[in-house]
Amino acid sequence: MNRREAFRLLMGFAAGSPLFGQPSEDDVMGPVNVHEFEAVAKQKLHKLAYDFIAGGVEDELTLRANREAYARWYLVPRVMVDVSKVDTSAEILGVKMKAPVIIAPTGGKNLVLPNADSVVGRAAVASDTVICTGTGVEKLLEESQPVKWWTNTTGHRSKSAAAGYARRMEDQGAKGIVVTVDNQYQSNRDRNNRNRFDYGYMGTGVPKPGEPPPPPRNPARAAMWQPHTPDMTWDYVDWLRGAANLPVILKGILSPEDAQMAVQRGASAVVVSNHGGRQLDGVIATLDAVPGVVDALGGKVPVLMDGGIRRGSDILKALALGAQAILVGRPPLWGLGAFGQPGVERVLWMLGAELKLAMALAGKPDLKSIDRKLVRHA
Ligand SMILES: Cc1cc2nc3c(=O)[nH]c(=O)nc-3n(C[C@H](O)[C@H](O)[C@H](O)COP(=O)(O)O)c2cc1C
Repeated sequence: MNRREAFRLLMGFAAGSPLFGQPSEDDVMGPVNVHEFEAVAKQKLHKLAYDFIAGGVEDELTLRANREAYARWYLVPRVMVDVSKVDTSAEILGVKMKAPVIIAPTGGKNLVLPNADSVVGRAAVASDTVICTGTGVEKLLEESQPVKWWTNTTGHRSKSAAAGYARRMEDQGAKGIVVTVDNQYQSNRDRNNRNRFDYGYMGTGVPKPGEPPPPPRNPARAAMWQPHTPDMTWDYVDWLRGAANLPVILKGILSPEDAQMAVQRGASAVVVSNHGGRQLDGVIATLDAVPGVVDALGGKVPVLMDGGIRRGSDILKALALGAQAILVGRPPLWGLGAFGQPGVERVLWMLGAELKLAMALAGKPDLKSIDRKLVRHA
């Protein structure tokens, strides 16, 4: 597909966005990488929304560490391999996708535009990838869109609530349940506190310029220590598994011991994640945590990872360390904030295209040819 055809395809999905109307080809094709999409989104978004998305917790040590880790792992390519064809296609837990690039769950998309979850879902369909989301696919299902989705939850307080949820998701056609295990409490995010952010805005959107702010609902400054699921334990995995025939994927695993425990309790996959540096500051960069988790599991279940992926070569490093797929949180939101649905599609396309080229230049024509010999720690 050439540039112009790709753009026409994207534009088919642009109609209907109240904020973006019809971005021009030059607009959407302007940014040459994910970082530049972030710069465009930053210009367009309210500061409260931009900081909510971009920010991490407290001193943002882990937010930075996630990115810095990619610079400390070097690729050691092989040459004289036939890479005239490169296949990035992947299959995770029975779901096929064009490239091992999955859309991570991100709450608060409505800070970017209304009904953003459905918009990102449409981009996932067009990009042939999986979206993890707790909300937003209903509309797509009503329209019989072939959306591949894993539902996302931070947990339920009782066995009956967990079982009811799991059954509902199975009935609706989810292909897996992603349980976020690192969200026991609301974390302490300096940017949100400084901006007087209110978590209520995640439902309503940020106040428009000139409008008086709505009455406080859940101010960030008061939300620190707010409990989400502080009493969730491994039993929760049993509750879900006992109720529905869906793979349970635990997101937020960093220690090899927890990874082993997850598999013992019947999890079908783990996601090495630190919530994009948004929960406990100072935790290990995810790329550095991947090898320990992969070694502890010895191939029993797929290991996925997220955190700081901005380039195809970042993905290649994660795959070389043993991840079978990666998730991206902020990059699709930068695409969304920059140009709506075409922006999300363009970001996903870029990551896939960069991965494909990186694989070719590393002498790896398909995912199964990628192994740990491809990387060396600086
Ligand atoms: C704005 C925002 C909201 C998020 N909301 C959730 C969430 O509701 N549940 C969850 O498991 N992770 C959430 N995350 C974390 C992402 O799923 C993912 O782990 C992280 O963003 C990956 O790092 P990256 O943004 O560098 O790709 C959120 C991340 C962002 C940036």
